[in-house]
Amino acid sequence: MREFVYHPLMDEHVLEAHVDLRLGNARHAPLAGSPRGRAAVRAVLERIHRDGRVCVADDGARVRAVLAWRDDPEPWCGAPVCTVAIDHDSAFDARGWIADTLDAELPRMEAELDLHLNPVYRDVYRALVARGVGVGSVVLLGEPATALAALGDVGGLAERGLEVMALEARHLDEALELTRAAFAAEPEHAWFGANEGFLAFLRSRLAGEIERPDHVQRVLLQNGRLLGHASASVDDDPLFGPTAGLGIVLAPELRGRGLSRPIYRALLEEAIAHGARLTKGMTSHPAVLRLGAVMGRRRIGLAMRRGATFGESHFAPYLPLA
Ligand SMILES: CC(C)(COP(=O)(O)OP(=O)(O)OC[C@H]1O[C@@H](n2cnc3c(N)ncnc32)[C@H](O)[C@@H]1OP(=O)(O)O)[C@@H](O)C(=O)NCCC(=O)NCCS
Repeated sequence: MREFVYHPLMDEHVLEAHVDLRLGNARHAPLAGSPRGRAAVRAVLERIHRDGRVCVADDGARVRAVLAWRDDPEPWCGAPVCTVAIDHDSAFDARGWIADTLDAELPRMEAELDLHLNPVYRDVYRALVARGVGVGSVVLLGEPATALAALGDVGGLAERGLEVMALEARHLDEALELTRAAFAAEPEHAWFGANEGFLAFLRSRLAGEIERPDHVQRVLLQNGRLLGHASASVDDDPLFGPTAGLGIVLAPELRGRGLSRPIYRALLEEAIAHGARLTKGMTSHPAVLRLGAVMGRRRIGLAMRRGATFGESHFAPYLPLA
């Protein structure tokens, strides 16, 4: 077995091998075998390979494992990150290689990690945890029709005294302030959520989305006060097809009253009407994890970070890895 590091030149053969490894282990993604899915994965990995460090295990015949990472000083989340991609051949015993590679590379990664790990890589997961990199949040995938049926009939929001309106440009400041305040108070649920750079990114995304007449961005008002923002952004994901990202942010006075079930119901109905076949999202919030389990969402990824706040029991039933 040869182990080596490419730096800083990109090697086309290693990049293609990395794309193969990643897609070969992406059985949860319905379009992993499509040319568009491949192009999307290649584009993500190419950015890392082009100007990052690429650590390879190769048995002389083929590439068995790759860890690639790069510094990204200006990502969407508004603070520098090290974007990391790890993949290996499932028949390859990665334990020795990943231990040596992480020991060499982790100390070089100075910024926050942006590392989405495929949970099939159990040995990589254990090696990361042993080095202080734990689960920050889980990525959950579900079917909206299944989720709706599982939530049951929970009544509407009007009968709970809430008015639901389409998000308009005049609501943007207040809606963004809800997000800023929520994550300034609870950074463990999105470490970047109160960053100015992230909020500017979110503002521009929302401003673009509400230009479309069929958008599913909603605000919740009580006695004329904007106290909630709920969204179902439906995109044609290159790996998953038409997929809704669901998001809810409530002001503290609306929390703990069981409003998430009727809000999810409303979002799911709209997402289905807009053609979504799947829902995909990332969370560490106990209420979202709880309802995720009710809705039959399954874990397809782990967002790993240093000094993660939560232990494995927090993410039950999605962790520990079997
Ligand atoms: C996330 C959020 C929308 C959830 O709403 P909420 O009002 O706190 O939760 P609800 O009262 O609707 O509870 C929903 C379910 O989760 C359960 N739940 C709530 N808090 C829980 C906790 N700490 N532990 C376990 N279960 C919990 C409830 O019992 C309920 O389950 P049930 O319907 O089976 O009884 C709200 O807390 C919020 O806006 N937080 C700030 C923004 C945020 O973190 N958004 C999520 C990012 S992914």
